Amino acid sequence: MDEKFVVTPWEVKGEIDYDKLVKEFGTQKLDEKLLKRLEKHTGPLHHLLRRRIFFSHRDLDKFLDEYEKGNRGFLYTGRGPSGSTHLGHLVPWMMTRWLQQKLGLKLYFQMTDDEKYLFKEGLELEQATQYALENALDVIALGFEPEELRILIDTQMAGAMYPEAIKVAKRLTFSTAKAAFGFTNEHNVGEIFYTSMQAVPAFLPSIPAGRPLPCLIPLAIDQDPHFRVARDIIPKLGYPKPCILHARFLPGLQGAGGKMSTSAGDADTQVIFTTDNAKTVKEKVNKYAFSGGKDTVEEHRKAGGDPDVDVAYQYLLFFEEDDAKLKKIHDDYRAGKLLSGEMKAILIETLNRFLGEHQRKREEARKRLHEYLATPDEFRPKGKH
Ligand code: TRP
Repeated sequence: MDEKFVVTPWEVKGEIDYDKLVKEFGTQKLDEKLLKRLEKHTGPLHHLLRRRIFFSHRDLDKFLDEYEKGNRGFLYTGRGPSGSTHLGHLVPWMMTRWLQQKLGLKLYFQMTDDEKYLFKEGLELEQATQYALENALDVIALGFEPEELRILIDTQMAGAMYPEAIKVAKRLTFSTAKAAFGFTNEHNVGEIFYTSMQAVPAFLPSIPAGRPLPCLIPLAIDQDPHFRVARDIIPKLGYPKPCILHARFLPGLQGAGGKMSTSAGDADTQVIFTTDNAKTVKEKVNKYAFSGGKDTVEEHRKAGGDPDVDVAYQYLLFFEEDDAKLKKIHDDYRAGKLLSGEMKAILIETLNRFLGEHQRKREEARKRLHEYLATPDEFRPKGKH
């Protein structure tokens, strides 16, 4: 069997071997001891950590060293606004919201309209910026107050970000960028420069603070290469290496490895958007979600289903918080007591409950969107105006 899988910032495909990825990327697996240490500060762990959906890290221990000394730092994550938000995008953001609340840290959220303009064929810059504003509603809907969440839209923040991005760019050679991202002569020069922009929010908040602040970045593991490069450069600018927390991907509706993504061009059969209504969610799940059940009810009752490949069950791992409930679903499915259609019905109810609430908060966020958008002024050095 061909075991090849691909995980880069621009492409994720195949059956992903996460243990292999940890080795290839040179990250650390999250272990019980480190999670226990985190739990001392957060209280009972989030289900995404309990279930190791967040499964790997870089220097989380060092971030906690500083936190325990009272050097509290900040959180950073982001989104490339190339379209509407789907459930896969929400996974790292939900984790980040939880950390923000439990650790009492501020979140800086980057919207890379520049990146998506540079990388996506046929996407106009104005459209990417528009998506950034739409996507921001989904971030705000997770419950943040404006003082807890600053949203940095790259093209709008250039006044503060550009002077810092060129400090990164000056220390990043073409050969390093090529080795990390596989650039060729056919890539445009904006693409080659772009990582410098993604590095900036990892240290920008230190400037108004007037001292180097620790930074923790929850992300889906495909974004790791940007920070592998940035971590080598940022200390040369006088700031600490950002620490990283890595998530697995939410699979597409049809499963078979990879991640939920619209880029394959078959959005309706792979993706649930945060704005899908209850009827659409029901139809998509029933029609497209890959089933780990048997072909006939008789066979299923006898042999049981396979939750490990059943997409509805896999989604419940991400969206059903209750461990006991989840275990019962798992065991009943394996035993053939729970049918595939019943598993899907449980998922549909769970998602629609979640999305109903999310959509209500998302509409509320519209009125207050401007309060969350950072301006370059916020990042002037202390005392300078
Ligand atoms: N490049 C990311 C994307 O395409 C967006 C992004 C910017 C990001 N900064 C980040 C993601 C920090 C995670 C963490 O989605």
